[in-house]
Amino acid sequence: MKEWLEGKTIVLCVCGGIAAYKSVEVLRLLQKQGATVRVIMTQGVQEFVGPLTFQALSGQPVFTSLFEKNDSSTMRHIDWAREADAVIVAPATANIIGKLANGIADDAMSTFMMAVRSPVLLCPSMNTHMYENRAVQRNIDILEADGCYIVEPGTGELACGDRGAGRFPDPWIIVDRLLAFLTPKDFTGKKILVTAGPTQEPIDPVRFISNPSSGKMGFSVARMAEYRGADVTLISGPVSLPDPLNVACLRTRTTLEMEKAVFDHVKDVDVVIKSAAVSDYRVEKPSAHKIKKDKDNMILTLVKNTDILKELGKIKKKQILVGFAAETEDLVKNAEKKIREKNLDMIVANIVGQKTSGFGIDTNIVRFLYQDGTNEELPSMLKEEVAMMLLDRIKHLMAR
Ligand code: PMT
Repeated sequence: MKEWLEGKTIVLCVCGGIAAYKSVEVLRLLQKQGATVRVIMTQGVQEFVGPLTFQALSGQPVFTSLFEKNDSSTMRHIDWAREADAVIVAPATANIIGKLANGIADDAMSTFMMAVRSPVLLCPSMNTHMYENRAVQRNIDILEADGCYIVEPGTGELACGDRGAGRFPDPWIIVDRLLAFLTPKDFTGKKILVTAGPTQEPIDPVRFISNPSSGKMGFSVARMAEYRGADVTLISGPVSLPDPLNVACLRTRTTLEMEKAVFDHVKDVDVVIKSAAVSDYRVEKPSAHKIKKDKDNMILTLVKNTDILKELGKIKKKQILVGFAAETEDLVKNAEKKIREKNLDMIVANIVGQKTSGFGIDTNIVRFLYQDGTNEELPSMLKEEVAMMLLDRIKHLMAR
């Protein structure tokens, strides 16, 4: 399976700040995505973290000064700028932000930055009063207008004891935003509604009927659609995944709640992708109190839930409607039936219960089926890769 940043060189610029130790985790996450990471450090940050830490972890020399003795490369700032596929400045202090906004090049990092032509991601991180300072905000606006991507700092208690905006973002957020920034925006202006996860149908206040859907497939679709510039609404059942960034997320529990959320948000949507594993039935009369085990047998009366996708199929006009079909047998036959009965443009037929496919895991084996009877079989892939391929196919359907 291909890693996102395989073959890419990312330059990580680390400035002076107490949060600098968190940049080590950013480096590790970039490496996990297959990137070669080169690190540039300001003089100030070396009071907090030593270059040796970054050198050992990156396996590359760390660039700290324009005039390093024993440095075989006299043009390192130019060479690294030329070879960078992207640059991350994290933490970005008020000082480097000021220098970059005003074209000042007086040390290794700012001189390197002057020569950079590749995408730049800046992560401002400082005391909240410094962050809110008008000059700093003005400089951030200049850099954004110049094409830099600004990762909003986190809000909360800061190292100095103040509370507010200025915290170093979670390292995964920085890497996620880099991936989004680097992804071509071919869904800009398109509204996509995605459903994900299971639904839960209560039996009593402590028990319910459900299934093992983790939400990974649907959340991947929502994330990748956001990466590609779509305006995404994600309606999920109960899952433990964090909200994808820059996606409108609605958490529901029962099928009735999911149904309401879908119909409240489906208007003006260009594409609906229903990957949620929705309960076909619910308990007719859930008990108000915990059921006691005083009987040997118990019969639960179930009533049918609305088939949300089928209802969407009845009212669809120009919308592209994509369903998922989780199957354990007769994959194509069952999926073909669903595509017809629910008036879908496409269905993702999904073999579940296998080692590399189905509920709860990071990979999936799917087959794309289309209204015209054609289908495409795909190998085991990361759910993110399935999501990307699905979006490619949807783009094609929209163009027709
Ligand atoms: O969440 P993960 O752990 O990553 O697992 C992913 C997945 C296996 C849940 C996912 O890939 C998948 O296959 N989702 C569809 C599961 C499912 O409910 O399939 P189904 O064949 O029962 O339903 C067919 C379609 O009708 C689905 O798009 C479903 O969302 C929709 N449906 C079903 C019942 C209902 N009452 N309303 C619906 O809208």
